[in-house]
Amino acid sequence: MGFEGKSAVITGAASGIGLGLAQEAAKRGIRLVLADRDAAALETAADALPDALAVPTDVTDASAVERLAEVAFDRFGTVDLLFNNAGIMATGLSWEIAPARWDASIAVNVGGVLNGIRAFVPRMLAKGAPARIVNTASVGGFGPSPLMAPYSATKFAVVALTEALKGELDMLEAPIAVSLLAPGPVRSAIFDDPFGGEIHPATQSFVDTLRGMIGQHGMDPQPFAEAVFDAIGRGEYWIVPQPEALDPMLEQRHRMIRDRAEPHFALG
Ligand code: NAI
Repeated sequence: MGFEGKSAVITGAASGIGLGLAQEAAKRGIRLVLADRDAAALETAADALPDALAVPTDVTDASAVERLAEVAFDRFGTVDLLFNNAGIMATGLSWEIAPARWDASIAVNVGGVLNGIRAFVPRMLAKGAPARIVNTASVGGFGPSPLMAPYSATKFAVVALTEALKGELDMLEAPIAVSLLAPGPVRSAIFDDPFGGEIHPATQSFVDTLRGMIGQHGMDPQPFAEAVFDAIGRGEYWIVPQPEALDPMLEQRHRMIRDRAEPHFALG
């Protein structure tokens, strides 16, 4: 896919990976509609880019995402790329994480992607033009982790939802392509408020370790986004810019399930 003059909508575009994607898209001459629930940060992000419109949007609100699609299709005529990227972290013991935090994880990480699919796919189908939907899961969508069950469960759901969507569009022979983006550690704000107000001491060291690991080994959003657009340019379904974070885990997991071995996890 050549990118010059194409149009893209990116959710969660005010920070981290979404912001990196927006900056890289702009570099490649893509016209942008940017969405985030943080209106002020979104405005700042859009102002710094040449052809970007900020549309403050909470992806958990289906009617807001409908409006986002309306605005984008009005502006561009058609949408060539949709990034369902907004996501939140939740950490803690499964039974202690506040119900509101569980609900928010499901509403943002799964509901947000679903709202994007519901609002954009029918419009893309009606246009009949080639398009691509990129859903952000995580390497954590292939291997669950204790102390972040809402995140693991919702990212597994994104992997499943995305594969189902791909199958459905294939069955219809629709011109809409699909990609599953599975980031490894990327420097962003995702761990800034992983507790939703509730801090359990057992979780603190786990989060500190993860934060340290991301700080030390994480990719910066800019080269990460460059790798994502290169993969889109090659038409890839699996977008895994950090295979070293996924492949050994996948192999180990496959072996564990094949051998009916028990999952085991030890801190540190
Ligand atoms: P981030 O916290 O820096 O950015 C996420 C953005 O999404 C923020 O601007 C936030 O305001 C926005 N957002 C949150 N809830 C929203 C809602 N309801 N409606 C609209 N916008 C909302 O985090 P990051 O890391 O850039 O996360 C982006 C995606 O990448 C997420 O889906 C995350 O799960 C995924 N990811 C991140 C990894 C990392 O190491 N940073 C690793 C694997 C996946």
